Amino acid sequence: MGCNRIKMRILSIDTSCDETAAAVTDGVKILSNVIWSQASAHAKFGGVMPSLAQRMHEERIDWVIEKAMLNAKCKTINLDAVAVTVGPGLSIALGVGIDRARKLAIKYDKKIIGVNHLEAHLLSPLAITNSQFSISNQLSNIQFPSLGLVVSGGNTLLVKINKIGSYETLAQTSDDALGEAFDKAARMLGLGYPGGAILEKMSKLGNPTKYKLPIPLLGQEDRMIFSYSGLKTSMMRKIAEVKSRDGELSKQDVYDLAASFQDVALTHLIRVSSFVIENCKLKIENLLVGGGVSANVELRSRIRQMCKKYNLQASFPYSKKLTGDNAAMIGIAASFKYNREEFTEVEKIDRNPNLKI
Ligand code: KG4
Repeated sequence: MGCNRIKMRILSIDTSCDETAAAVTDGVKILSNVIWSQASAHAKFGGVMPSLAQRMHEERIDWVIEKAMLNAKCKTINLDAVAVTVGPGLSIALGVGIDRARKLAIKYDKKIIGVNHLEAHLLSPLAITNSQFSISNQLSNIQFPSLGLVVSGGNTLLVKINKIGSYETLAQTSDDALGEAFDKAARMLGLGYPGGAILEKMSKLGNPTKYKLPIPLLGQEDRMIFSYSGLKTSMMRKIAEVKSRDGELSKQDVYDLAASFQDVALTHLIRVSSFVIENCKLKIENLLVGGGVSANVELRSRIRQMCKKYNLQASFPYSKKLTGDNAAMIGIAASFKYNREEFTEVEKIDRNPNLKI
């Protein structure tokens, strides 16, 4: 199944952080989704090094684009548009993808669409696989307005989606993002970078009540903000306390501390989200959840419980490859912009590292 039967073929590129990604989509259908992760190169620095990210994007971008086109069995002549992340993200990293997208759009005379990475995470649960036939089914399951939650390395954001393309921020983090907090906690436990997924794995072996960590902003959910920097500090103190008592952390200590951290981090997420749902009179039926941390099984389970309580339908990306940074979600967001004819003049497309939703 190549591009022949496709109505809206978009080649998308994302180089916003430390993944070099390209994809071909047809509306919300994913034809290919290629991700080259640089995570292991950044791991020794304990976080993303912007200049290294830029260099690695430059080294890999052409290969990733070529592979995305090959995997989709798509020729450039069959593309309707090129889409690219314009922000938010690391400025010099974004520049690599934008530059490549611009060159391709000029060379092959294609329309170019600039996409907000956060909007793309929000819409990622709408994705369907190449083998699913009915796009309308997936979309008609979602009623707008709906609620959207982005839980990623750089953002924790709860928004009202009035309709696709129109968003109102209801709550966001006042300091660290949830993924960032997972990464910092993982680093403190010696689990490497990025540490969210490994911390989740460790927490499955631990007892979340063994070490008590305070729930952020407990009783202050009416402030409608998320906050994770205090939890990071509490975690640091708790680790120091256990180390000064026992000399070093045992494996079981790591499991228990990971479990406590995850429990408290998710409790805070759910408490604030529940407050918003209960108090903002949203008249919604759906919650869309995207971003790297949406791969977390415990998070999914707690969100489903919350949604059951409020009679909402929760939707998550169908594959892990759609939770972290990827270009397929950029293509999905771009398809709606294509329908609204929101194109950018090719000479004017530019990065916006602090772009908001
Ligand atoms: O969406 P993403 O690539 O970041 C941004 O676009 O900002 O998400 C990456 C984040 C990292 O912080 C990573 O540790 C976290 O998502 N993450 C997880 C899990 N998988 C990835 N956090 C908790 N549990 C997971 N299973």
